[in-house]
Amino acid sequence: MTIITTALASLMAILPLSKPVYPVLGPNNIQSIIRSLTLEQKASIVVGTNRGFMSPPEAAPGMVVRPAPDFQAMIAQASAEGTDVMEAVTAFSRGKVQGAAGEGYKIDDFGIPGMVYADGPAGLRIDPTRRGDDKEYYCTAFPTGAVLAASFDQDLVFEITRAMGEEVREYGVDILLAPAINIHRNPLCGRNFEYFSEDPLLAGKMASAYVAGIQSNGVGTSVKHFAVNNQETYRNGIDVHLTERALREIYLKGFEIVVKESKPWTIMSSYNKINGVLASENKFILTDILRGEWGFDGFVMTDWWAEENGARQIAAGNDLLMPGTKHQWDEIIDGVRSGRLDEALLDKAVENILRITLRSSTFNHYNYSNKPNLSDHAFLTRTRASEGMVLLKNDGTLPFSKKTKKIALFGVDSYDTLVGGSGSGNVNRKYKVNLDEGLTNAGYTLTGVSDQLSAYVKEQKAGMSENFWTVPVIPEMSISSDMAKKAAKESDIAVFTIGRMAGEGGDRTTEKGDWQLSDTEMENLSAVCKAFHDAKKKVVVVLNMGSIIEMASWKDLPDAILHAWLPGQEAGNSITDVLCGNANPSGKLPTTIAVKYEDYPSADNFPMSNGTPSEVCYDEDIFVGYRYFDTKGVKTLYPFGFGLSYTTFQYSDLNVTPAGDGFDITLNVKNTGKVEGKESVQIYVSAPEGRLLKPAKELKAFSKTGLLAPGQTGSLKMHIKKEDLASWDSRSDGWVTDPGTYTVCAAASAEDIRLSSTFSVE
Ligand code: BGC
Repeated sequence: MTIITTALASLMAILPLSKPVYPVLGPNNIQSIIRSLTLEQKASIVVGTNRGFMSPPEAAPGMVVRPAPDFQAMIAQASAEGTDVMEAVTAFSRGKVQGAAGEGYKIDDFGIPGMVYADGPAGLRIDPTRRGDDKEYYCTAFPTGAVLAASFDQDLVFEITRAMGEEVREYGVDILLAPAINIHRNPLCGRNFEYFSEDPLLAGKMASAYVAGIQSNGVGTSVKHFAVNNQETYRNGIDVHLTERALREIYLKGFEIVVKESKPWTIMSSYNKINGVLASENKFILTDILRGEWGFDGFVMTDWWAEENGARQIAAGNDLLMPGTKHQWDEIIDGVRSGRLDEALLDKAVENILRITLRSSTFNHYNYSNKPNLSDHAFLTRTRASEGMVLLKNDGTLPFSKKTKKIALFGVDSYDTLVGGSGSGNVNRKYKVNLDEGLTNAGYTLTGVSDQLSAYVKEQKAGMSENFWTVPVIPEMSISSDMAKKAAKESDIAVFTIGRMAGEGGDRTTEKGDWQLSDTEMENLSAVCKAFHDAKKKVVVVLNMGSIIEMASWKDLPDAILHAWLPGQEAGNSITDVLCGNANPSGKLPTTIAVKYEDYPSADNFPMSNGTPSEVCYDEDIFVGYRYFDTKGVKTLYPFGFGLSYTTFQYSDLNVTPAGDGFDITLNVKNTGKVEGKESVQIYVSAPEGRLLKPAKELKAFSKTGLLAPGQTGSLKMHIKKEDLASWDSRSDGWVTDPGTYTVCAAASAEDIRLSSTFSVE
């Protein structure tokens, strides 16, 4: 006893001198860690460490405007201290992985590491080179979101994102800030190239495959932007007014699918307001719906610099504030001290972050190689992009005949092909393949006009460089009718590329040169089509853009039109593979191409058109995309789900049988043409008359065949749950499925129904 007392006494004597012993983060002690953390430490865990050079986005009128980090002051201080100025600035942004969008706060005493967050949807975005380091850190620019969605193929998305996730893991990043899944409500949204579709089922299913692919590497995703971020104009606070039915059925549905099916590690809240409340302060969507109804078990982070009040963000269920500012940190501490923020809510946010931290590469000391398999990924990009390309028109011109050797290649984007959009969705790739290079790689000869155009593009590009906000766009070069005639004489065929660039922070416009062709583009296309048709030769248009443009005024001029989107760094090779028939395009439109812009139901209330840009009312309610065109009988130019192939397919044997929680749908698809190809089949369901007004039909399932040889038949099987048929009824505040007879259609597009059947629900 005396011995023990003496020992204890000596221990007590030593203790004040030794370092306190803290619990070290492990799977079973998150609560005890939280109990040991100071208020300041907790606030630090939920506020990012603010790395990066981007400034906060332009604030919507009436919002609090916060300053960007003061780099001038840092530079001044470094100069005064005689230290290397650039070193001081890059040290700030470097963190564990230079060029990553953000990093979490680390507390060594508790073994809590700071996780690393980096963009973005088309591939990892980090700095490709580092000061004082001769190694390279390039990433693959994979096909962008619209291409993935147009593939209508979850397996393809999984395969591509599994490769993308390898780059995330091997470059030491913990969480990829992707996928971006907001609905294409209007074709002018600047980020539609990152987003998937106008249809929530397609968006949600693609997102599920995407998250599964990335997370199969042991790294996380951040599904963004939650929610209703369907425009970029005044994105930092624009107030979106919509009904709860539209919110749930159209704008949240995709998120619901991915949360339930693939369990993303994180969700990124959006900048905008939803019915008056900022998304990042919106308890209704962040806590009640996301966690309460859908069972989300990861953590929510803000979009970058989205802040009005850090304490309110935490209280709403927004666990991590990125990239983190001092204001937010102060607001959280003041909030707890003044009783305005319940400390238990802060503890919950810390717990959510630590739970995911346990899974991270950084926590698990993953020995990343900085050497992902870029050449395999380039090959994957090249070969799979064609499966999202959409053949809109073809009178037999494509694929090129064996006799085609000499090509007249028009359009500046043929020589400076766009492979991704601007902003955080851009990737620092090692190279890109332009279309002129793709065609010459495949052995085609480019005729005279190519020399003029490529010299023009080179000259225009001199001094331009790509940065976060800008991918340089070259004005179109004018083609005289004499040039077109000469080209027609010298060449077997003309290929004419039309490109458009877009990115975050701004929406597109209805002007000429954007939604409409510019005068030069229209004149060039007319001159080229006239000259080539006079010479009995064909013209192919390639659309090289992340979204869509007005086409009714010119689509009859060329003989074939291929929508190649922004297909990733192998663009020129991928497009060539389709043009020459090495690959059969099997993409289908994830978005309706209307006859004219004014036909879109959102045209009157897209922010740029309504005169009050800080507010937008989604008056069309649930009637977005084909749901509107179909129900109201408005003619489209190319419907949702449309896409031609170099072969033809016949559908047969549609069967609908009750199974488990819903219905199994089976059918056969036969390749009735002369070349091998894949076909994606869409299953639409029309509801019986019921309590609520329903769209004429809604996509409820889709599936794609494998590669079918001529004459070969493939079988497809899909499942629809009864709950998938429900609509949100605001009167009863719940989902309702009306009883009655439902019609099921197997379709090649929203306007090409091949087979139908019925089933009943009691
Ligand atoms: C974008 C996000 C992106 C973040 C970090 C923001 O400007 O809206 O999509 O993940 O920056 O780069």
